Amino acid sequence: MTPAFGLSQLSLRTCDPPISYFMQQAVENPNLISLAAGLVDMETLPAVETRAHLQAILADSNSAQIALQYGTTQGLAELRQALLEHLCRLEGCTPQDLHLSAQDVVITTGSQQLLYILSEALLDPGDLVITAAPSYFVYHGVLQSLGAQVLAVPGDENGLDTAALESVLATLNDTERRRLKLIYVVSYFENPTGATLSRDRRQHLFELVQRYSRQQRILIIEDAAYRELRYEGEDLPSLKRFDRHNEYVALAMTFSKPWAPGVKLGYGFLPRELMPVVLRIKGNHDFGSANLVQHAALQSLRSGDYTRHVQQLVQHYRRKRDTLLQALEECFPKHWGIRWWHPQGGLYVWVVCPRKLDTGPSGPLLEQALREGVLYVPGEFCYPPGMPSVPRHEMRLSFGLAKQDELREGVRRLARAVARCLAMRNRPHST
Ligand SMILES: Cc1ncc(COP(=O)(O)O)c(C=O)c1O
Repeated sequence: MTPAFGLSQLSLRTCDPPISYFMQQAVENPNLISLAAGLVDMETLPAVETRAHLQAILADSNSAQIALQYGTTQGLAELRQALLEHLCRLEGCTPQDLHLSAQDVVITTGSQQLLYILSEALLDPGDLVITAAPSYFVYHGVLQSLGAQVLAVPGDENGLDTAALESVLATLNDTERRRLKLIYVVSYFENPTGATLSRDRRQHLFELVQRYSRQQRILIIEDAAYRELRYEGEDLPSLKRFDRHNEYVALAMTFSKPWAPGVKLGYGFLPRELMPVVLRIKGNHDFGSANLVQHAALQSLRSGDYTRHVQQLVQHYRRKRDTLLQALEECFPKHWGIRWWHPQGGLYVWVVCPRKLDTGPSGPLLEQALREGVLYVPGEFCYPPGMPSVPRHEMRLSFGLAKQDELREGVRRLARAVARCLAMRNRPHST
């Protein structure tokens, strides 16, 4: 018999994300309405603009040759400068206010790569990381793979509960403090809850990190993937805005949500000392993200197409969010005791059922939902690994991919599935 390969400890720790099964279901069953997929709306993808940008680059032999050659590991200098200006427009400040220059910007293959590289740069197996519970489950996979131990801090509609974080930090002993390397926060319209970290909590979180960075600096990874998709309310300053000397916060952003995930282009603003190590690791990964795509992204920013596109997206997704929320209001009667959070942006609505309604992968609701032809993400997938007890009565719904009528029909189907589960629970047991 042929012997097995000797897989590394890292491979053995790396699990299949539980959600892949769900994505597969959606692909295999075209009649299924997926309120699970965290994908952007196909209809919004900027095909015309991207074609024009690529044509402009490729029509000129000089620019074509430059774009089709390898670029640098850190990324196209003009694009880094344009992204710094973009961040400053969002923050309403100057690069000096943030103590940033284009040297502090790195272009990555999606923001996911930056999350991975930063974690790889800081974490050894057994090191501690703090995340909100629930939070972005793909990042939990990274942490598990690297052997990090996650300290989960609860979150609510105002994001990570920083008072709870303060209590957790206060209970760490010296060894644990030395092992605490980073805090991961999705600061706007979090995946999966849609929650945004409030202004006061931003301030508090930043102060805590400064206060507890005694023997060793704690890094905040601020993931702002959804920042530009805001449908109501005032934009808030990023955590990076509090980091006036560029010391504690690595801000990760992406073209995937506000432009197109197919370009798979992310970017980060990093504390200066982290850049060399990030570039060495990225050098090992790919020594630079796709150069042609970076040139196209630069065109989208310079031409104004990017800004126009984001404005259209905001209108489009606001309507879809409202449709989903209204459908929930109409189809889920109050006496069911089901609540949902009101997201001011992003792509997700977090639904909290009564505890008796098991939304988990082997629970009755998912089975009934699949029978009705609708899919959601069980909330328990969104909790970090190693938590002693995980809630089983929540779900993530997305209004990204489904069309308006599918959103309405999807919620109707989900309501029928819920009604059936509640009826089953209330049915007297036969003896
Ligand atoms: C919160 C969050 N961060 C990061 C990412 C990674 O996106 P990308 O690598 O396409 O930039 C996603 C993707 O869904 C996300 O939801």
